[in-house]
Amino acid sequence: MVTASAPGKVYCFGEHAVVYGEPAIPCAIDRRARVTVTERADSALRISADDLSLEGFTVAYDGGPEDRPNVDAPESLLDAAMGYVRESIAQVRDLLDRPEAGFDVEIHSEIPLGAGLGSSAAVTVAAITAAAVECGHDPDPAIVADRAFQVEHSVQDGEASRADTFCSAMGGAVRVEGEDCRRLEDVPTLEFVVGYDGGAGDTGALVRGVRADRDRYDSIRETIDTIGAVVREGQAALEAGDRDAIGRCMDVNHGLLSALGVSARSLDAMVWAARDGGARGAKLTGAGGGGCIVALGDGPVRRALEFSTACEQAFATAIDRDGVRVEQR
Ligand code: PMV
Repeated sequence: MVTASAPGKVYCFGEHAVVYGEPAIPCAIDRRARVTVTERADSALRISADDLSLEGFTVAYDGGPEDRPNVDAPESLLDAAMGYVRESIAQVRDLLDRPEAGFDVEIHSEIPLGAGLGSSAAVTVAAITAAAVECGHDPDPAIVADRAFQVEHSVQDGEASRADTFCSAMGGAVRVEGEDCRRLEDVPTLEFVVGYDGGAGDTGALVRGVRADRDRYDSIRETIDTIGAVVREGQAALEAGDRDAIGRCMDVNHGLLSALGVSARSLDAMVWAARDGGARGAKLTGAGGGGCIVALGDGPVRRALEFSTACEQAFATAIDRDGVRVEQR
């Protein structure tokens, strides 16, 4: 039996534009998915999970789609989570050339599903690592990142960048531009507050919507290019440890994401509540449509968010320098 954990992430800068080859800087946070894998004597795959949202709900799932668990969670989210685990195991069977390997997989996650915090990437990275280690193979995190990207690419019908999976595998702040993925080493310890509206966005539909607008409007193509410029300015601000400039770039990035049409009333309300609470900057994180915002700030920002009717939960978090790790073997 092996347990591995991997962090969720927030986007400091660059979601959506990263899909078109612009750089993005996601940052691992100290909320983790933990996956325990036990090899079975047969070739079956049994998956069980709990706490797949901040509120937590319990799932017992041990079969195909016909055997749906009885849980209080949107069907598509739950099916998606199970899809990531099935594909992760397929990657491990391929990596180790063990097509018949069977596993019991147990998921515990502190990261809300589909809310822009990289829950699926964290579950995928932890599952691949735990299953490989359980089979006696210690995979390099870069290999795990690549295999986890293949999982997201296949589950999300090709609409995925390497950002979430690379960040979760490596930890810290990372820069992703196309195939070029690396860690940023000189980033200060940043304190973030995350505001969560209790909902979720449909990443695939949001990415397809931006793509359709980009095909039609020069202004949307230029907005995407401008997000790339903000990411480069944001990287310089991060490496200089200039918190005011980091916050300013986050604010500008949120405005540009609104221009792409991926924000939501609840996300805008939380961004403004965070700014009213003294945040140096605030933006939506991830695909948008609903889910989470990230603000640069601490206690007063969290309290301001808790007073916002748009916000269901707010929590303080910080950069997690650790990526995937084996917790128990
Ligand atoms: O909502 P998340 O955490 O899955 O982030 C999606 C980020 C996008 O740039 C919109 C898509 C991607 O794969 O990079």
